[in-house]
Amino acid sequence: AAKLDAFDNHERVWHGRDEERGLNAIVAIHNTALGPGLGGTRVWPHETFEAALTDVLRLSRGMTFKSAVAGMDFGGGKALIIANSKTDKTPALLEAYAEMLAALNGQYFTGEDVGFTVADADFLRERTPNVTGTTVGGSGNPSPVTAHGVFLGIKAALKHRGVATLDGVHVAVQGLGSVGWTLCEKLHAEGARLSVTDIDATRMEQAKDAFGATPVALDDILKVNADVFAPCALGGVLSAENIPLLGAKIVAGAANNPLVRHEDARLLMERGVLYAPDYVINAGGLLNVAAELAPGGYDREATMAKVAKIPETLTDIFARAEAQKRPTNDVAAEIAFERINAARQR
Ligand code: NAI
Repeated sequence: AAKLDAFDNHERVWHGRDEERGLNAIVAIHNTALGPGLGGTRVWPHETFEAALTDVLRLSRGMTFKSAVAGMDFGGGKALIIANSKTDKTPALLEAYAEMLAALNGQYFTGEDVGFTVADADFLRERTPNVTGTTVGGSGNPSPVTAHGVFLGIKAALKHRGVATLDGVHVAVQGLGSVGWTLCEKLHAEGARLSVTDIDATRMEQAKDAFGATPVALDDILKVNADVFAPCALGGVLSAENIPLLGAKIVAGAANNPLVRHEDARLLMERGVLYAPDYVINAGGLLNVAAELAPGGYDREATMAKVAKIPETLTDIFARAEAQKRPTNDVAAEIAFERINAARQR
């Protein structure tokens, strides 16, 4: 814990306000030991500024770890626009946000996250350079690549538990957005049985039609007696209070920060639940957008080769955690620390 605390300090946090154009945004740079801050922009109507700040600080910190474990030369950064993406995300707001990004002079590179689409990235890119995940000269939507990495990661977790095929495996998917939906497609194609939930009931109906998925009430998805629980909505869904109710023996999904507290991974371990650390299994999207910034530009084949290593990294983490009787997220954090500390000493 002491070691983790040392990583709690962020290097820089900016608050951008433009009341006329409706912008209320936070950009957080956690750590740049390995390179400039890279991470998406989330648009979410947090009820308080404090809740938004907590979210963006946790997310940007997670990006530091994600980049480090994936072997990338980027640091942790993330942005949050406090707004409802369906009703408040006007061109004027995005214009104001583009000006905020331009003023940061390349310290932060952004891309997609919840509530922020490829079209939004394209809009920003016309106004400011440090935007990834764009269609013009970029790599486009990172979500399918994230979903592919998560899919490979789920298979690695099952394999670690002695299950060789997805046929008949039951997966409970929370959140049928860009990543969750594609993940369901892939799981369904290989014979998995799906239970699904989303705050948007039509998504559940669509999943029932497309994949024969069983719709489940929001609060019940955790309790489903599935083989795998795949959190693909927002973070903070597993806590000391509800971990005892968890039905699955594997937690492996796309959501960043699915645990309310890092330490709660120990409760999962004690319950015999194998946890695939979020920033390891969901690194596909980051690998994809970062590839745009490589010399020579985006190379899809090279990127997919990196994504194909996600299951290997997870398997190593699972084995190390088991041998040392430690939670998997402690082992993953250690791998990140080693790289970051080595870079700091250079
Ligand atoms: P999205 O916004 O497309 O989808 C999120 C879905 O979750 C929506 O359908 C929404 O209705 C649903 N949802 C929200 N709250 C819910 C709740 N309490 N219960 C059930 N469903 C709920 O977002 P996207 O891009 O699919 O991302 C999903 C998660 O994966 C997020 O946590 C994101 O940070 C993470 N992630 C996404 C990456 C990407 O490439 N898109 C990369 C790495 C992580």
